[in-house]
Amino acid sequence: MVALLVLLQLGMLLGQDGPALFAPAHESLMAPGAVRIIGRATGKAALTLDGKPVTVASPAPGVVMAEVKVTEGLHELVLTGDGGETKVSFFAGKEHNGWKMFRPHPPGGVGCDTCHAVKNGEWAMKRATLAPLCHTCHNAEQFTKIHAPHNTGTLVDCQNCHFQHGSAAKTHLRMEKAVACKQCHS
Ligand code: HEC
Ligand code: HEC
Ligand code: HEC
Ligand code: HEC
Repeated sequence: MVALLVLLQLGMLLGQDGPALFAPAHESLMAPGAVRIIGRATGKAALTLDGKPVTVASPAPGVVMAEVKVTEGLHELVLTGDGGETKVSFFAGKEHNGWKMFRPHPPGGVGCDTCHAVKNGEWAMKRATLAPLCHTCHNAEQFTKIHAPHNTGTLVDCQNCHFQHGSAAKTHLRMEKAVACKQCHS
């Protein structure tokens, strides 16, 4: 039973197949200098920047974390693992193809352990519900105003609408607001 629960928990976090890169976002701008990379890949994970191998830290199976230094210009990350590969292009600098600036979230190199913990050797959330984690930095009273008429009980899965590791999108929305609402309202 315990093993099953652990599997379910892992399944929730690392459920989708194939490697994925969450930060930086595909076709976004970054400031030249240090760039933090967040992704997931199971199996024999390998990451390259502009064709050169990058050392990856993996705090738990399937988790990909790295930091690279980039100079101004176009760059490409390739992450391979079980299920294939994923590519992300980003431009270090101020203008390229109208791409938007990637804003890491939370900003300022906040540690993964603000939200995550390794439980039974697997990557998991630090707490069973997200809202209290988010509200260590975001005003809880503001939540109902912004998300009216819902409370955090109804909109418990913040990541269904927001990119939790940052994005180039306004208020880090994954989709148009109207589409986000249609997850539940027709
Ligand atoms: C502000 C809170 C927060 C911080 C800080 C954070 N994460 Fe996450 N992370 C989340 C949330 C929320 C999810 C989604 C959980 C879910 O889908 O159930 C997630 C999911 C993940 C996943 C699984 C994604 C998937 O779709 O398979 C990985 C891997 C991950 N985080 C890595 C990291 C790493 C590495 C760091 C530090 C560099 C980090 N996270 C920092 C909130 C955070
Ligand atoms: C159904 C989709 C949805 C879910 C789920 C959701 N949000 Fe939002 N959130 C939004 C939308 C839409 C906006 C932008 C509101 C606007 O611009 O009118 C927003 C805005 C925000 C903002 C920015 C407020 C500002 O300063 O403008 C924060 C912070 C936020 N949400 C936090 C959260 C947290 C924390 C959770 C989970 C407990 C969450 N959201 C769950 C849709 C969602
Ligand atoms: C360590 C503090 C911290 C934590 C924890 C945190 N945030 Fe944030 N978040 C911030 C800061 C600071 C900003 C403003 C960043 C900026 O201006 O780019 C922000 C911005 C946002 C925005 C976009 C608001 C805007 O004005 O564009 C959303 C949405 C958001 N956070 C959701 C979440 C969710 C969901 C969680 C929990 C999974 C969470 N945050 C946890 C610090 C935090
Ligand atoms: C996770 C499912 C879910 C999502 C996503 C969602 N809602 Fe709701 N909504 C509910 C539920 C459940 C209620 C009933 C009241 C409650 O429990 O908060 C509700 C009630 C409402 C109501 C009150 C009137 C009514 O129909 O009962 C409005 C207006 C509303 N939602 C608008 C929105 C908007 C706008 C969005 C997108 C930003 C949105 N909802 C996204 C689940 C959701």
